[in-house]
Amino acid sequence: MRILGIETSCDETGIAIIDDDLGLLSHQLYSQVKLHADYGGVVPELASRDHVRKIVPLIKAALVEANCKAEDIDGIAYTKGPGLVGALLVGASVGRSLAFAWNVPAIGVHHMEGHLLAPMLDDPKPEFPFIALLVSGGHTMMVKVSGIGQYEVLGESVDDAAGEAFDKTAKMMGLEYPGGPLLAKLAEKGISGTYTFPRPMTDKPGLNFSFSGLKTAASNTIRKEPEDEQTRANIACAFQEAVVDTLAIKCRRALKYTGLKRLVVAGGVSANTQLRSQLEDMMSKINGKVYYPRLEFCTDNGAMIAYAGLQRLKAGQTEPLESKAKPRWPLDSLPAI
Ligand code: KG4
Ligand code: ZN
Repeated sequence: MRILGIETSCDETGIAIIDDDLGLLSHQLYSQVKLHADYGGVVPELASRDHVRKIVPLIKAALVEANCKAEDIDGIAYTKGPGLVGALLVGASVGRSLAFAWNVPAIGVHHMEGHLLAPMLDDPKPEFPFIALLVSGGHTMMVKVSGIGQYEVLGESVDDAAGEAFDKTAKMMGLEYPGGPLLAKLAEKGISGTYTFPRPMTDKPGLNFSFSGLKTAASNTIRKEPEDEQTRANIACAFQEAVVDTLAIKCRRALKYTGLKRLVVAGGVSANTQLRSQLEDMMSKINGKVYYPRLEFCTDNGAMIAYAGLQRLKAGQTEPLESKAKPRWPLDSLPAI
């Protein structure tokens, strides 16, 4: 079975072709970050228009790269939600229409399921069950994963997502959108321990997250401290340490609570080097193992949607002709396969 995957939930147009036997045959990505950088964040209307502009040329490029024709495609997977409704509608309309024209089934994929399964695109693949920490620009979630579609949400952010806190703090420091990776880079030059920020909600039981207080603490420090490069790096370093520590504490807690030893970390923030190394250390101490997607599949991409869609289409799940986008869509409402 060969599936074309389409991702358009936010500011990346991602197209990929995956084959059940041969693996990933092609993936194409167009990032709109430059378009939105001037506005300091994603402008939904501009995002939709840019997806419309790029989607068909990228589908064509993915077919060429995979050396296959329309007749070789057995199904189409597109991101159905959650995300920006206008952006989602572009992928859903194009995906559903192409499937109709090519007379193949279509499936609407949950964006966070795509992230969660992204480590499966490479070997070694994590075996079920495992704990997944999903950390993106829109979501922070701790999930017990017993199989595809068998998701128990153990905790999530009550306010800002981890990536959002990175981006907002970076913006306060004058870094360009999306500031998460730039803040992480600045933090590398910082001296650890110069500043200390809170590790929110770690002193109370439970697995929910809250990052807005930490963001405010960082903002107050940014405002009152000098603006030289070393001070900025020290603040970035303290902020990153606080986020990473908080995420690591909650992961350890989720593993202890469930008795599991396998951890999957996915979503844009899983590209963070400090987070990766701290979690590696923690997991080796408890004889566990942590799995990440390869770096290019941490942030939004079509490959993860193609992979998740392939699993569901193989199981016989399909979308009716009048499919729609779901800007809000609880992960634990998905059917199991
Ligand atoms: O998963 P993603 O591409 O989009 C959403 O679904 O939201 O995640 C993007 C988020 C942004 O907030 C970005 O700043 C953050 O991931 N991010 C990082 C790093 N790389 C991406 N945050 C911290 N450190 C990084 N290295
Ligand atoms: Zn995402």
